[in-house]
Amino acid sequence: MCGIVGYSGPKSVEEVLIRGLKRLEYRGYDSSGIALMQNQEIVLFKAEGKLENVEKLVKASSPESRLNSVRSGIGHTRWATHGKPSVQNAHPHQTGHVVIVHNGIIENYLEIREQMIADGFTPKSETDSELFGFLVLKEMNRGLRLRPAVSESFRQVRGACSVVVMSEKEPGTLIGVRNGSPLAVAKIENNGGMIIASDAQPIVDYTKEVYFIESGDGVELSGGELTFFDWRTNREFQKTPTKIEWSSDQLDKQGFDHFMLKEIHEQPTAMVDTINSIRDKAGDLPFALIGQPGLKELQAADEIIIIACGSSYYAGLLGKYWIERYSKIPVQVELASEFRYRSPLIRPKTVVIGLSQSGETADTLAVIRDLKAFKATQPSNQSSLFNLITIGITNVRGSSISREADACLFTCAGPEIGVAATKSFCSQLTVLFMIAGFLARNSETRKLMVLSGQGVERENTGAIEQVFQEFLKVPHLMKRFLEPDSLWLRAIEGAADALLLSKGFFFIGRGYSYPIAMEGALKLKEIAYVHAEGYAAGELKHGPIAMLDKDMTVVVLAPQDSWREKTVSNLEEVKARGAKVLGIGLENDDRLKSLCDYWIPIPLPATSGDFHSLLYPFLLLPTIQLFSYRIALKKGTDVDKPRNLAKSVTVE
Ligand code: M6R
Repeated sequence: MCGIVGYSGPKSVEEVLIRGLKRLEYRGYDSSGIALMQNQEIVLFKAEGKLENVEKLVKASSPESRLNSVRSGIGHTRWATHGKPSVQNAHPHQTGHVVIVHNGIIENYLEIREQMIADGFTPKSETDSELFGFLVLKEMNRGLRLRPAVSESFRQVRGACSVVVMSEKEPGTLIGVRNGSPLAVAKIENNGGMIIASDAQPIVDYTKEVYFIESGDGVELSGGELTFFDWRTNREFQKTPTKIEWSSDQLDKQGFDHFMLKEIHEQPTAMVDTINSIRDKAGDLPFALIGQPGLKELQAADEIIIIACGSSYYAGLLGKYWIERYSKIPVQVELASEFRYRSPLIRPKTVVIGLSQSGETADTLAVIRDLKAFKATQPSNQSSLFNLITIGITNVRGSSISREADACLFTCAGPEIGVAATKSFCSQLTVLFMIAGFLARNSETRKLMVLSGQGVERENTGAIEQVFQEFLKVPHLMKRFLEPDSLWLRAIEGAADALLLSKGFFFIGRGYSYPIAMEGALKLKEIAYVHAEGYAAGELKHGPIAMLDKDMTVVVLAPQDSWREKTVSNLEEVKARGAKVLGIGLENDDRLKSLCDYWIPIPLPATSGDFHSLLYPFLLLPTIQLFSYRIALKKGTDVDKPRNLAKSVTVE
């Protein structure tokens, strides 16, 4: 989604803006621009495509003497919604002496556009964003100063968005307002100026003390000071900063060819950090979540509903398998974009988990808000009966979901720059597994009937303490896998190179491997632009099998768990239709290997004899990630910033 950076202070403004926008590139964009306040005049540089195009324009047109007089500016990366990617539609947008950058959507833009035209202005772009500058200009022409003019204008627009505004009438001042789309701001130590941005990433280069602006709030950056205010009432207030725990080094590739590759390699650390953050207060208790918020409600829940989108939805699905397996609490996993527009049934003691890597996904956030609003409308004499609780699980402290859910648990993956989720997904699995194990500890008291079928119920899960010990070994195992030039890695690369030209892929798996199959297909689609589908292996014959021929590849995830035999039967059906088969299974599974055209063995060291099948997803995960990465690499796509994608989807 769009990215905003603004700066006012003594540093080189264009450098701060360009550097900041580079930090936001991961969000996805198709054009960009900056506006510099040079003395009392706005100078714009905008271009389609990569940020370097803007950088070149700035370098070509700004002799140093001119840039020295610049003390403030705003910049933007645009991910097109209203109007195609073009220089005209790129931000910043100037109307008279006002210039703005905007992230989000102005829903009532048509009526504002008509007003603008009726007032004798000709919009220069097709965007909804430009119209906001017109509103501010109109308010300033009525005699308001910049801050009240921005507040008044913001009250006139509908839709989730944030805006940062400058005016030639008040050089050096920036006003940022938020209703939905995130904004963060900071004062740089030693009079280094003030910086505002869509998230903390452009800010941590200068300071770790960051203020996250709430919806309904705004901030004025002027005279070296930050002033927080409520744009609905104009009331000023004090705010406490949040300390960012990661450093700006993590925003560099550190020798890897791509952020995605680096982030795949960071998964063991992300897991350890996440486990430790949860166990901090728990001593040696297995799976203990002592001190974590929302615990009592989780333990007492009649039902858990996990709400998510994209990769997070797949993580949630695996969470369902684990949590139901262990806790006997029914778990529903729902796509946020569907859940919010139907009339779901909710039991009195339901815990709704908003699972979101960014903590900003519009649909997931909307569900949390809707549920809270719904709860607030319940008559007070009913409220003890209706004990609905929302819990966020997110990777971003200070994010909207972390603040708006009743409670929040954090994954500790650090910043993830590659648009394709890798370590953030792995950390979500880590937290969900911890929750499942934690809930297992009082599951005996539950009276639910468990159907004892062909699947997991036949497994001997062992004592919870033992599973926990195995779980703690996963990061170490994963690290060993990821060592350069391992057999595993070579097998992945060999298979990817051989299957590069396949017409399409099905990833199939059963049980715990099924959500990973879906995640594998999503990874391949998003970074290599290859058509891929993730399927429950048993579903293939209910339709998709018609698509199989020699040009199709079926990736079969079949570790030695209680579903393996069934998956192998499905593999035979695939083979009989002539499709190529890539098997991913345990190293010692010679039978599986013999059935596959290509084979990626997952090596389990001899010492891990007790390695529990519940944990195989953690080992399948880097395998499918690196397989997709290799195909994308060979195809020459933009791995870290795939076309059309945004990292954080803040519009519905
Ligand atoms: O930030 P969220 O987890 O809420 O984002 C939801 C999806 O947009 C996201 O998981 C997306 O599918 C992944 N980045 C794809 O790799």
